[in-house]
Order: sequence, then C-alpha cells, then structure tokens
Amino acid sequence: PESRVAAREKAGALVAVREEIGDCTRCPLAYAGRRSIVFGDGDPNARLMFVGEGPGADEDVQGLPFVGKAGQLLNNMIGAMGLKREEVYIANIVKCRPPQNRVPEPVEANTCSQFLLKQIDVVQPQVIVALGATAALYLLGVKRSLSSLRGQWHQCRGAKLAVTYHPAFLLRDPRQKGEAWKDLQMVMKEMGLKAPA
Ligand code: URA
Repeated sequence: PESRVAAREKAGALVAVREEIGDCTRCPLAYAGRRSIVFGDGDPNARLMFVGEGPGADEDVQGLPFVGKAGQLLNNMIGAMGLKREEVYIANIVKCRPPQNRVPEPVEANTCSQFLLKQIDVVQPQVIVALGATAALYLLGVKRSLSSLRGQWHQCRGAKLAVTYHPAFLLRDPRQKGEAWKDLQMVMKEMGLKAPA
C-alpha cells in the first residue's frame, strides 16, 4: 500500500537527517556536558507531531525525547486523545540538554532548529502541537505569550499548529490541566479523533 511505501521513504529520510547532524558541534550545547543527541521518536509517517523545548536529564541518558516525568504525562495526554505514543512523532527545539535544563539560548535554538524543520518536512504531519513557549517561539518565529497563542490555529511548514502548556509546567501547576485538555480537544476535532471510552 502507498502509505507503507511513504512510511519507509520517510524513515529513510529521517535517517539521512540524523546522519547529517552527525556528532554535532555546531552550537555551545555540544560542549556543555551533553551525553546524547536526542533526535526524535515515533512514527515517521505520523499525522500528529509534538515539539518540546530540549532534553532533560533522563532524555540525555536514554537518548530519547520525553522519557522522564514530563514524558509520562505527555504519554498520558496522547492516550487521552485516543492515540498511542508510537503513532505520533516527538521531538524538541534543541537536541542536546541545556545545562541545568535552562531555556535554550537563541543561537542554540536557531542553530539546531534547522534540523527539526527538516524532520517536519519529512514527516509532513497534519498537526503540530507546540509544547510551551519555547517551542512556539521557534516554530512560529514570533515572541508572544502562551495565553495569546492558545486556542487558535497557526501555520507551520504546511501543518496546522496548536500551542499548549508544556507537560513539565502542568506537573508544577496541575490546575491548568483542564485548559491543556481544551487545547488537545481542539486538535482532536481537527483530526477526527475521539477520546477512548
Ligand atoms: N522536556 C522537553 O521539553 N523535552 C523533553 O524531551 C523532555 C522534557
């Protein structure tokens, strides 16, 4: 079937992007103690893509995005949408862990995001969800508050883009989970997804 051919070609194209990154020393994060270059995870042919900020300690060790506490919450959010983690694609603005999980510097984010944009162009998701202000800033190229970006559709490289809270923020302020669920419901409506019974 056509979609399986597409999936195989996309998987190969993602390998090529990973090879282009190589043992990257293009930005200062290469010299800031990173152990892994955390490329991305999930279905190369996904209709839905999540983009976070950058790897944390767990991600740096395991070499995969969103595998720590915030990742567990993201997995639950994906499940609440009626999807499995393996059915979506997950990546970050920067692929190397910023020291003490600080926000990536503009030079770091701008150097690294060229590769994220290539991943988006390969996967060609229908919908991208930007998790938090950093993802929104570098995917949309505009510096605006999260609250002014939520609840509406944006455009990113041919995909519809929605903005919601970062799961690490939701762990600190669980009262906002209902607001995040509204954002996810907007995405589910667009994609024709139903919450599991
Ligand atoms: N937070 C992020 O932004 N990305 C990860 O991969 C993990 C935690």
